[in-house]
Amino acid sequence: MTLPYEEYLAEILIDEETLQKRIRELGQQISKDYEGVDDLLLVCILRGGVVFLTDLMRQITVPHEIDFLAVSSYGKGVREASGRVRIDHDLMSEATGKHVLIIEDIIDSGYTLRFVMDVMMARRPASLKLCTLLDKPSRRTIHIPIDYVGFTIEDKFVFGYGLDLDDKYRNLPFVGVVRLDALPQH
Ligand code: PRP
Repeated sequence: MTLPYEEYLAEILIDEETLQKRIRELGQQISKDYEGVDDLLLVCILRGGVVFLTDLMRQITVPHEIDFLAVSSYGKGVREASGRVRIDHDLMSEATGKHVLIIEDIIDSGYTLRFVMDVMMARRPASLKLCTLLDKPSRRTIHIPIDYVGFTIEDKFVFGYGLDLDDKYRNLPFVGVVRLDALPQH
């Protein structure tokens, strides 16, 4: 994955303007829903959620803390078979008694977020909600209630805006569809 991103791009699925407009709307909705709350904690799931977090938090007018949780599966194939996910880097702050809003880039099978929600719930937050930029419901294996969704998308291999292609291109300001025939194994 060393070529310019254009080599791997089949199409732009969600352009920068559309992303930013929707993120402003989400920020307004979240600000309204949490109005008056003084212990809001945004928990970003690394690594994919980081670009979304940094744009979204600047659209949220309620004072809040941010923190980061890094999780990974035991391998994509294994995860889909077993749903096993582990914590690689835990929060640096306490979640107990706070209003926790999880910030994620994409929900696919649902295993990662099921794990994250169970881990966070065990810490007894005042409330626990989930916000994802992208939702791929056709891929869902395990039920996961989502409170805020940016875009519902079809089952396409997407990258950019936090989502990687072989660990790169997370910096792209749009969400693109990967050109499968441009990948090395094809
Ligand atoms: C992606 C995404 C979610 C997870 C969703 O992370 O950021 O955390 O997959 O998949 P699921 O619903 O099937 O569990 P990834 O494992 O690619 O790690 P990354 O965020 O570091 O890129």
